[in-house]
Amino acid sequence: MARTPIIAGNWKMNLDHLEATHLVQKLAWTLTDLKHDYSAVEVVVVPPFTDIRSVQTLVESDELSIAYGAQDVSTHDSGAYTGEVSTAMLTKLGCSYVVVGHSERREYHGETNELVGEKAKKVLDAGMRPIMCCGEPLEVRKAGTHVEYVLDQINAMLAGLSAAEVAKSVIAYEPIWAIGTGEVATSQDAQEVCGAIRVRIAELFDQATADAVRIQYGGSVKSSNAAELMAQPDIDGALVGGASLKVDEFAKIVTYQQA
Ligand code: PGA
Repeated sequence: MARTPIIAGNWKMNLDHLEATHLVQKLAWTLTDLKHDYSAVEVVVVPPFTDIRSVQTLVESDELSIAYGAQDVSTHDSGAYTGEVSTAMLTKLGCSYVVVGHSERREYHGETNELVGEKAKKVLDAGMRPIMCCGEPLEVRKAGTHVEYVLDQINAMLAGLSAAEVAKSVIAYEPIWAIGTGEVATSQDAQEVCGAIRVRIAELFDQATADAVRIQYGGSVKSSNAAELMAQPDIDGALVGGASLKVDEFAKIVTYQQA
């Protein structure tokens, strides 16, 4: 079954709304110059909340094929949750995706697999698609128990979801030791875990669900390693941090098929 690869740029806490508009505009021009086929590789930007309205205005007025989303969301619908943003607010802004359970949220905000699963469910209920992050820390990789560790995360995150919901979701495997460090997992390392995730989804649900779910690799993805990672049978995209802030570099990653 053919899965459409998805390259998403996670800007993290970078770029204000004016810079966001510039980046997305330049990205669209660059991808037009490169004759990028959006139906062959989906392109998503994930800016900070404060930029989303500006990105929406640009995408709608210029009829861009770039999708966008948010970096996190609340599990609550509304009310006394200072600092939180609801799924309804994000759908109103035209978001298609929400990243949930990024390792930085797990580390600095104590997010658990169960909470991440709840957030994913909320996102799906609102008609958007979650990009669910998982990945092991360095100690676990050194101990050689990374596959087991990530599969435990998968079991817990997907526990409350139906097969149809999982099929619509994106899973991002991001080994923590490779995030922002320049230390990319080898394509074999990345494939090992992404392949194991797909097998686990077939066991938990069924083969059709496993065949449909898209699994991204994330962690120091750059134009020089994107094509090799994407050539792996179970890697269907990339979640790109640092390199997504540089238009030319991100555009090269998106057009990895031309490399
Ligand atoms: P990086 O970040 O590409 O800067 O390593 C990836 C991520 O955290 O999503």
